[in-house]
Formats: sequence, structure tokens, C-alpha cells
Amino acid sequence: MEGRSPAAIAVSEAYEQFARRELAGFSAAYERICLAVAADDELLDRLSTLPVPKRQPNLLLGAVRWLDGPIGGYEPFREFVLGRWELVEEVVLRRRTQTNEANRCAAVLPLLARVHAETGKPLALIEVGTSAGLCLLPDRYGYRYGDRRVGDPAALVQLACDVQGPVPVPAAVPPIAWRAGIDINPLDVTDPGDMRWLECLVWPEQTDRRERLRAAVSIARLDPPRIVSGDLNETIEKLVEEAPADATTVVFHTAVLAYLDEEGRAAFARKMASLPVRWIANESPQTFPEIAARVTAPPPPGPYLTVLALDGRPYAYGAPHGQSLYWL
Ligand SMILES: C[S@@+](CC[C@H](N)C(=O)[O-])C[C@H]1O[C@@H](n2cnc3c(N)ncnc32)[C@H](O)[C@@H]1O
Repeated sequence: MEGRSPAAIAVSEAYEQFARRELAGFSAAYERICLAVAADDELLDRLSTLPVPKRQPNLLLGAVRWLDGPIGGYEPFREFVLGRWELVEEVVLRRRTQTNEANRCAAVLPLLARVHAETGKPLALIEVGTSAGLCLLPDRYGYRYGDRRVGDPAALVQLACDVQGPVPVPAAVPPIAWRAGIDINPLDVTDPGDMRWLECLVWPEQTDRRERLRAAVSIARLDPPRIVSGDLNETIEKLVEEAPADATTVVFHTAVLAYLDEEGRAAFARKMASLPVRWIANESPQTFPEIAARVTAPPPPGPYLTVLALDGRPYAYGAPHGQSLYWL
């Protein structure tokens, strides 16, 4: 610990926090590795040589999986990373954390239905930071909110969300007239390499998530959503202009805006206030502190790490992969 550089201290803190806040209870293998990395000076120094956005635990863990490295115990893991650093570094630099979790549709759906109920019009969906576009297909999945079912009960993908509080579970999935996504690095559902990378980003014990990913990809392949390549702030206006006038345009994002700096997030929030759109954000409280500050109740115990908001007004706490909602 003594003599650690400021960069190594920051990496250590990031790994420890990720282990305690996100992995605990969900991935014992990754939790063990991340806690050990947080205490490993040699590895911390190596990780500190990477550009800041590339120091994320998910990227290192995904890269080791991509290279078929060991993730069972810490010693073989560290030996692999240090011994094959050039290979690991190449994957980390080339790839991004693009975890595409269809289950996040279950978090967003109650607000999509609310917008539809308010306007009476079909929706035009624009997802920024869409990855492979799996969350752009809410009408191709079925849903289970506790014991209530929504959407097609025969759909290949059935999304599940535990509910706490008065979650307004919709009677049906609202009609979607048009959809498009934006990503700085779109992933292609028909590209085996891109899809293998998405699988490497699913935590090892989460076989249900891996199966859901495969099933959602097979649904998306039947009619892949349109994804525009570009930075969300630079691309959003043009896409909003393209949306059909007889639909209500909803711009939404889940687990994306944290990848922008403060200025980029503020610029995006200003665009959402000035464009003719409704805006659904499902992000960590730190991403839009001004939205989180409007929540008076602290999150209940459980994996409630996101705040779900419509037009800047918070409605619920959510779990990171859409697996539970706590309605405010
Ligand atoms: C963690 S993934 C989340 C993907 C998807 N929203 C989901 O919830 O399943 C974050 C995505 O945001 C994209 N992204 C990050 N910064 C971006 C930017 N400035 N403009 C567009 N996309 C961006 C990444 O490429 C990545 O695909």
C-alpha cells in the first residue's frame, strides 16, 4: 500500500468498490479476483499504465475470458495477466464494456407505457448507447413482474423483474412504430466475434443471463434494429428529426451516461430538455446527481444501484440488470 501511485490507489479503490457494490452476491469468482487485484501492487501498477477508461474491472475480466484465461482462482489469474500482458492489453484497448442486457427493458417498460398512456400515440424509440440493440426490442419479449405477466408469454425471451412498492405494471407493451439506436461502437448481432465478446462480459456464474443473451440475440437476428455509429451528443438531433411525426419520440438509455464526462452528461441533459422528446434515464445516482437529489428516500437494502427517471423526475430505484424495481 505504501508508495502506491495515485493512479494505482484509484484503480485499487475502483476494483474494491466494484467487488463490494456490484459483484457481491452475483459473482463469487469475480468478487474474489477483484478484491485480490485491489491489494496486488504489481497488477495495480500494470493496470495504471492503461488509459483511464480502460482500467475498468469488467474490461480486464472480459479480456481474460476472451483469451480463455483462468478465472477460478487468483494465482493462476494473475500469472496469466502478467505473463500475457501484451495479449490482454491488446484486447482491453480494442474492446469496450458494452454489456447488453435485454432484461433492462423490464425496468424501462413501466415508463414507456406511461408515456404511451399520456400521449395516446405509438412510440418512436431511440436508445443511446445501445451496444447491439437488444434493449431496442421491448415488444419482442415477454415479462414477469412478480406474478403478473406482460407481453407475449410464448416469446423466446421472458424477462423477470421483482417489484417492490407500487410499480405500475402495464397491461400491455405499448405499440412501437419506429426504433433506432446510437452507439460509439455498434455491435453487430450477426457477427460471431461481437457476440462472443458480449458473452465474455456476462459474469461467469450467471448462466441465466448468458442464456437470455443468446436468446435475445437470436430474436434480434431475425430483424436487427438500425444502429447509427457515433457519439450520442453529436448524433441525437439528426435521429430525432428522422423519427415519424405521428409517434411520440422517447430517448432512453441504461448504464451509458457514466461513460461520458460531466460536461458531456450536462450537454446531453440540456438536449433532452430542448428537443421534442420524452427522456427515460436508467443510470447510477452519481451519473445525474441532480435527478438523484430529488429522491427523498434512500434505496432499500438490496441491489438498488440505479435511478429510473422520466424527463428528469425520478420514479424508482432499480437493480443494475433490470432484475428488480423499487417504486418511489
Ligand atoms: C454498458 S453498455 C450498455 C448497453 C445497453 N444500454 C444496455 O443497457 O444493455 C454502454 C454502451 O454505451 C456506449 N457508449 C459509451 N459512450 C458513448 C457515447 N459517447 N456515445 C454513444 N455510445 C456510447 C458503449 O459503446 C456501450 O455500448
